[in-house]
Amino acid sequence: MKVLVIGSGGREHALVWKLKQSPLVKKIYAAPGNPGTAAIAENVPIDSLDAGRLKDFALKNKIDLTIVGPEAPLALGLCDLFRTNKLAVFGPSKKAAQLEASKVFAKSLMVKYDIPTADYRAFDALDEAVRHVKQGKPPFVIKADGLAGGKGVIICKETDEAVVALNAMMSGAGRVLIEEFLEGEEASFLAITDGRAIAPLAPAQDHKTIFDGDKGPNTGGMGAYSPARIVTPAIEKEIMQTIIRPVVDALQSEYIPFCGVIYAGLMIVNGRPKTLEFNARFGDPETQPILMRLDEDLAGLLLLAAQGRLRERPLRWKDNASACVVMASEGYPGEYTKGAEITGIKEAEAEENVKVFHAGTAMKDGKLVTAGGRVLGVTAQGHGLREAVDAAYKAVEKIHFKGAQFRRDIGKKGL
Ligand code: AMP
Ligand code: GLY
Repeated sequence: MKVLVIGSGGREHALVWKLKQSPLVKKIYAAPGNPGTAAIAENVPIDSLDAGRLKDFALKNKIDLTIVGPEAPLALGLCDLFRTNKLAVFGPSKKAAQLEASKVFAKSLMVKYDIPTADYRAFDALDEAVRHVKQGKPPFVIKADGLAGGKGVIICKETDEAVVALNAMMSGAGRVLIEEFLEGEEASFLAITDGRAIAPLAPAQDHKTIFDGDKGPNTGGMGAYSPARIVTPAIEKEIMQTIIRPVVDALQSEYIPFCGVIYAGLMIVNGRPKTLEFNARFGDPETQPILMRLDEDLAGLLLLAAQGRLRERPLRWKDNASACVVMASEGYPGEYTKGAEITGIKEAEAEENVKVFHAGTAMKDGKLVTAGGRVLGVTAQGHGLREAVDAAYKAVEKIHFKGAQFRRDIGKKGL
């Protein structure tokens, strides 16, 4: 079959890399893709938000399955347009994608269906929000109600800080959520669903902040590994029973069936999972280590989900571990530099258990250069997490570009 992957990040490179291994797949296109996908598939120069041209491309080229990577095209209704045109697509409708795009939608759904999450209140008026924090007890978690690339959350240890944050966030016409602060360890739990059947993916752990020891501002994710030790089999069972199954069923009973990936960002509080947020897509960088361990035909699996024919069964996994270390541009997650030459990828990939996924890269005058905040996802597998992490860092050492920054503690919590 012919497959189209939409997006241009490390997640999309990993999807293309995994799809490429499927005997079912004859041809893969990536729109717009990156230099990593160009090496193994055909890049199509259409922006991931250009729904009309993507649909035309899929019709003209008789694409059998389209897989949408990022959240923005989902929130704009790309999958609705594809379905209207009888094109098989893996990803939720615009309405279902609200699970990620609107925190108010997600929170109301969780409350209505008793899905464990932090207590919260939503505010449209600044003075009411300020009064709320002045009467409450810090820390406060303040969230903007919309897509913010993982950067729309401020945790305030003091009331004054919360007032400043509210003023900044609500100066335009902003709605905010003020949440109870949950203390624990985070995990990412992803599951493929066709709206009814669910195939859970192996648990993973992301590293949200830019600096070691979970310090500094939040990023899109600086590294991930799988499996995540914090998610024991008992906790995994509880996640499925109290969070994933209920949310899939809730959306179904609200007449908003969800086809795609349900990604629960969790806080494990005293051994009990609570939902911090839902995403409506594969995680980035979690997808990189997860797909490295998946022992299934991804194309077949996602096609069944897109067709509403997913069979509920446990997926097969390699009995190993994997880790992804993100190398980012100087200045990220703030203003960052671009255009630095990247060397050493070939040397890094000389080891059979290493794969370097491109994210923010570009070709310029025949050279590979940096072109985004997160540049590469250096991913490795090993018998255990220690081996995977060591292999990933050994590979990182071989890769160079000016100002490269990466965390040195990826996977540490799992060791
Ligand atoms: P979100 O975009 O909602 O996942 O939030 C981004 C990050 O903020 C999360 O990965 C957590 O580290 C942190 N966070 C969000 N909500 C809470 C909460 N209620 N309690 C503690 N930390 C939170
Ligand atoms: N790794 C965080 C995300 O994909 O949202």
